[in-house]
Amino acid sequence: MSRLVLGLETSCDETGAAVVRVDDDRSELLSDVVASSMDEHARFGGIIPEIASRAHLEQMIPVVSAALERAEVGLADLDAIAVTAGPGLVGPLTVGAAAAKALAVGLELPLYGVNHVVGHAVVDELVHGPFPERVMALVVSGGHSSLLLVDDTVGITELGQTLDDAAGEAFDKVGRLLGLPYPGGPHIDRLAREGDPTAIRFPRGLTAAKDQARHATDFSFSGLKTAVARWVEARQDAGEEIPLNDVAASFSDAVSDVLTAKTIAACHAHGVDTLVIGGGFSANSQLRDMAAARCAEAGIEVRIPPIRYCTDNGAMIAALGAAVLRRDLPPSPLDLPVDSSMPLTQVLV
Ligand code: KG4
Ligand code: ZN
Repeated sequence: MSRLVLGLETSCDETGAAVVRVDDDRSELLSDVVASSMDEHARFGGIIPEIASRAHLEQMIPVVSAALERAEVGLADLDAIAVTAGPGLVGPLTVGAAAAKALAVGLELPLYGVNHVVGHAVVDELVHGPFPERVMALVVSGGHSSLLLVDDTVGITELGQTLDDAAGEAFDKVGRLLGLPYPGGPHIDRLAREGDPTAIRFPRGLTAAKDQARHATDFSFSGLKTAVARWVEARQDAGEEIPLNDVAASFSDAVSDVLTAKTIAACHAHGVDTLVIGGGFSANSQLRDMAAARCAEAGIEVRIPPIRYCTDNGAMIAALGAAVLRRDLPPSPLDLPVDSSMPLTQVLV
């Protein structure tokens, strides 16, 4: 029996809506519409929650209408509503949850409040098919760098996370110190493609033997960010020009090196041979190339969705909604609370 799930995403600056068809053994994406308020935040050098909330309020109905239209379905055809319950910014999350509740009550449909970070991994089921029984997931975004052991798609064990900055956050901060527009991640990626990743040897956080014992599956990028700042300052003080391409490439290489090495070691430690990489930072070309090469060498199948499914979108929420619907998990209460720091082990409210 086919069922249709509408997924809504509003945890940060993207208003996303997507329709997924759920069959017994697979989920199919019928539409995915995203409106971003990033242009309104860029001049502030960071996301302004109040502006993001207002943008969600304005964009919600047009984005949902466009998603239904592109899927060639009507509201009456839907069977369930999924929405991001957290983690994220409280104001933006609240706008999405309010819209999802209104739809669920008005259409008398079950409501599923799901985890944004887990959605970043599960969206890959729409691209590469259902997950095998157990996969390793590396979710790297502006807010998270998390290593998750995923059983039957919806059972999450958190193996590790960043102890300070997330990978995307470190890129955005280094972008700022290099004078690049916000968010710096994609700009550093572009510069790095023309640079030499071996030009400067930046530190690899939490890889020393003493750290490996306690933090084998954790990450740390703030020391690296400081090392880049010191290196740049020293050149500036000496009146030298900053080789932006080489700095970007060497910095990106350090981040990708640590992420891939620790993740592959965790796959071996847990006997897992499929790795899923998701989240906005998985758009990074050095990470994608290095993960592909090192996983091939290690005999691990690596699944990374196309870039448009890596950054925030409604498809990831509809995909996770589809996964919980297929497993007959109980719907969320209609007073669904949002949780800005929702634990990653909690897939569904
Ligand atoms: O998942 P996402 O869209 O939002 C969060 O949930 O955080 O991730 C956004 C983050 C930003 O830090 C952005 O700079 C980074 O992902 N990012 C990239 C690239 N594309 C996006 N970082 C490096 N290289 C990229 N190509
Ligand atoms: Zn995200």
